[in-house]
Amino acid sequence: MLFEWAKQDSGYGKIMMRVEDFEEYRQINLALAGLIHKMDESSQMKKILNHVCSSGGKKIRPLILMLSTEVCGGDMNKSIDAALAIELIHSASLIHDDLLDGGILRRGMPSAHEKYGVAAALLCGDFLISKAITLISSYGHDAVYEFGSAGMYMAEGETIDIKSVNEEFRQKNYFDCINKKTASLFASSAAIGAYIAGCSKDEALRFHAFGENVGIAYQIVDDLLEFLEELEDKKSTQESVTLPQIFNRALGREEAVKRTIAEVYRYVGFAKDLLSTFRPCPAREKLLLITDYITVDLLPGKI
Ligand code: FPP
Ligand code: MG
Repeated sequence: MLFEWAKQDSGYGKIMMRVEDFEEYRQINLALAGLIHKMDESSQMKKILNHVCSSGGKKIRPLILMLSTEVCGGDMNKSIDAALAIELIHSASLIHDDLLDGGILRRGMPSAHEKYGVAAALLCGDFLISKAITLISSYGHDAVYEFGSAGMYMAEGETIDIKSVNEEFRQKNYFDCINKKTASLFASSAAIGAYIAGCSKDEALRFHAFGENVGIAYQIVDDLLEFLEELEDKKSTQESVTLPQIFNRALGREEAVKRTIAEVYRYVGFAKDLLSTFRPCPAREKLLLITDYITVDLLPGKI
């Protein structure tokens, strides 16, 4: 992962950053490594967790949480457990997603169930969700409620995703699906980060909306790259119906790609507008960079 960032920010001069150089990135990786390290060496669960959690991953959701805390004037160190909880539930969702859509390759490695079998993968997902609950439990009602809601939305989104192969699946269904299965966790990550800093309800809602729009844009890009067969580090045996496919049916490939990219920019625009309502600070700049990093920077021609 060597994406150089050189962007003009709004008040902090020219900044050169890579996500791997963020202090928040270092902290979340340390926390994750610490969690695995503490487990009994001989346990089978440790082996599967190592496989799942040490396979890279950009840690975008926990970063969004920690940076939202900072933008709201809070201490990033107080949000690490919550950020870890978010990363763990995300990892669980990928294990379960691979079980559901026949994922065989994830982050360039065999999926958990390919390597360890369905039962072990399922149980690893259960373990991760449970551990995540213990980590989030000390953060108070608003954060815990957000966390639980995200999990419910993700599962509901997956039910829509699964049905997408069998039904007449239109744009409206697609957006409902990705909003729930993907954007909900981005949205809750941002809102939880804000709640941890003790921000107002209005600020938390704006952070929630920011995360939601980034999450939607991110999933559209992911679906576009899959449509263009440009994703080499993951592979599934079952395909869902996605936005570029919906456009392709009606308009042909070239126009489908154009329209899909236009949607990405639209949601990135919403996200950036929301971000601009917060006080300018280095953490806000990092959120701005992350927004591009996981969306427009990955578009064809920019890779
Ligand atoms: C990836 O979709 C999958 C998700 C974004 C969400 C999966 C959610 C669940 C299985 C529900 C789990 C619920 C809890 C509480 C853990 P994709 O198949 O389009 O992306 P991919 O190409 O990365 O596989
Ligand atoms: Mg999948």
